Amino acid sequence: MNIKEIIDKEPIGQEIEVKGWVRTFRSNRFIALNDGSTVKNLQVVVDFENESEETLKRITTGACLKVHGIVVESQGKGQTIELNNKAIEVLGDSHPEEYPLQPKKHSMEFLREIAHLRPRTQTFGAIFRLRHALQFAVHKYFNDNGFFMVHTPIVTGSDAEGAGEMFRVSTLDPSNPPKNEDGSINWKEDFFGKETNLTVSGQLEAELFALGLGKVYTFGPTFRAENSNTTRHLAEFWMIEPEVAFNDLFDNMDLAEDCLKYVIRYVMDNCVDDLNFLHERQIQDEKGLPEDKRSMPLMDKLKFVAENEFVRCSYTEAIDILRNSKPNKKKKFQYIIEEWGADLQSEHERYLVEKHFGKPVILYDYPASIKAFYMRLNEDGKTVRAMDILFPGIGEIVGGSQREERYDVLKQKVADFGIEEESLWWYLETRKFGTCVHSGFGLGFERLINFVSGMTNIRDVIPFPRTPKNAEF
Ligand code: 4AD
Ligand code: MG
Repeated sequence: MNIKEIIDKEPIGQEIEVKGWVRTFRSNRFIALNDGSTVKNLQVVVDFENESEETLKRITTGACLKVHGIVVESQGKGQTIELNNKAIEVLGDSHPEEYPLQPKKHSMEFLREIAHLRPRTQTFGAIFRLRHALQFAVHKYFNDNGFFMVHTPIVTGSDAEGAGEMFRVSTLDPSNPPKNEDGSINWKEDFFGKETNLTVSGQLEAELFALGLGKVYTFGPTFRAENSNTTRHLAEFWMIEPEVAFNDLFDNMDLAEDCLKYVIRYVMDNCVDDLNFLHERQIQDEKGLPEDKRSMPLMDKLKFVAENEFVRCSYTEAIDILRNSKPNKKKKFQYIIEEWGADLQSEHERYLVEKHFGKPVILYDYPASIKAFYMRLNEDGKTVRAMDILFPGIGEIVGGSQREERYDVLKQKVADFGIEEESLWWYLETRKFGTCVHSGFGLGFERLINFVSGMTNIRDVIPFPRTPKNAEF
């Protein structure tokens, strides 16, 4: 049995063996043992008679133990059962003078510097069990709703978002690459015989499959070489991208809202201990703040999102709201909204969600000029069928659209965006052979975990964050 099973089943009187790591060792008598199966620790009450002085000395924070003992009703407060040891074996010493994790609260910044050890803390245990449950819920949601998962490629020859923020994949020797006569690099000599990069999105390939299998999704790593040092950006992140034939933009919104509510409800039902821990953690963290600076307690926030309809608001309406807002008039925004067509910054998104509507918001029908080439052009000729979902504390969590399904319009858009048609010939062909209305979106997995866990920095919800100048672990 692992510690979760022991705590759940309370096998009083039974003789068991557990393995785990020492969280704390109090008064040379009480060991809080954790094996990662739950946020809760098993209390081992050390019976001196059974242990040598030598062994007792080696029971320090971080040490790995095997404990053989009998489960009894707890004499103390804080737990209902405990383990009376018969024999303790130290499987791995932890060298107390060097072990950086002490039984006290460490800052998240410090823990990022010891990312190889942070999975042993209560907070990271809770976050990564939650991450697991969320990805399981995502797969369950799509499977139960008749979607097929497609593994879209990691190495691609196209730039799906057209933003040029890609990591090159090459086996050429950078100090001596083969050259063309005009001095440019001859990519034909490279491994794939062309320029390739790590994918920024699986969307274009998912579209090809939606136009054959109907309802598909991809859930994989994506890479962006944008130099954004923020609490919301990673250079390597995971994205969930469903794509559905015959869905228009409003079907797409329904799908995204339903999916988000489902996965949030799933973890509320299945990750109670971890969420309660994170809920309490947030309350403790924000204790010192004035009341109006504190965020909504985690469990209330999750319930609120799971139970309320998201607001739907067009970009044009949003611009009116923002233009007339207090922070805009008082020039409190860093970027003042003056005209229709302005790109929304995260300060504007958060104003709409947190101050104006007080609910998640789906913004749609954005200006064509600030969105990607593949979005369907509206009749007005200046907006596209785009949608972004904005969440409190997070800003944009989903970006999606109805796709441009008309061959001529798409071909023109590709040209207008300065994209080489040869790199997308296969994408364009789908619009020539049995094209149809279809839509999809991308849900940033780490932004979702940030929201659900109440963490404030995206680097703390991915096991090994990749950000500018940082790929240590
Ligand atoms: O809005 P984005 O760039 O949309 C796409 O990539 C589309 N191809 C998706 C689609 O329609 N299939 O990214 C989608 C989401 C964002 O809303 C955000 O949640 C997340 O991906 N995201 C990032 N997450 C972490 N770090 C980054 N650098 C991110 N960039 C986008
Ligand atoms: Mg976006």
